Amino acid sequence: MKKNFGAQTWVYPMPVFIIATYDENGNPDAMNAAWGGIVDRGYIGLCLSASHKTTKNIIKNKAFTVSVADTKHRIEADYVGVESANQVPNKIEKSGFTMVKSEFVNAPVINELPMALECEYIKTTQEGLIIGKIINVCADEEVLSENGKIDPAKFSPITFDPVNNTYIALGNPVGNAFSDGTKLK
Ligand SMILES: Cc1cc2nc3c(=O)[nH]c(=O)nc-3n(C[C@H](O)[C@H](O)[C@H](O)COP(=O)(O)O)c2cc1C
Repeated sequence: MKKNFGAQTWVYPMPVFIIATYDENGNPDAMNAAWGGIVDRGYIGLCLSASHKTTKNIIKNKAFTVSVADTKHRIEADYVGVESANQVPNKIEKSGFTMVKSEFVNAPVINELPMALECEYIKTTQEGLIIGKIINVCADEEVLSENGKIDPAKFSPITFDPVNNTYIALGNPVGNAFSDGTKLK
């Protein structure tokens, strides 16, 4: 029998996205975001509170990057989710993250996190979802397999558990997509 929990914003897995932006003076900011994901081919959607410095920066500069947090940087990733650049102007210095300007959009890429989506701001929907067009995906060479593809086993991406407020490391592959199911066709 299943137990009912009511209307909760829970799902597994939820991402640990680190959204990086520049402010009006070119200072970098970053925040943690779990409410987001791919919304169409080539597009990402983020549900960000309008009060966040990040949200203001995205609308001002029309750009942001989305890095995937990993086990190694879970403390830095959580920190940028519990302090705001609205109150703490040196938030990024305190976080330990360093950044370099994206080659593709007017937003910073976090050096320490292994992969990032570089995005152009498209619009905010009536429901408050920020839509970005993915212009480029970049990844550190250290996390690529011999065939040049991103290998999640090499960087241990983490997911957010909204029920228990923990971060969970992704595990090993357990199957092959678009393939295993064909056995039942
Ligand atoms: C695990 C985690 C997930 C979060 N997810 C979101 C989210 O999806 N949307 C949101 O608006 N805030 C989210 N936050 C809160 C922001 O990251 C936080 O308010 C941050 O301080 C905003 O920073 P800023 O004002 O410098 O942009 C999350 C925080 C944590 C720790």
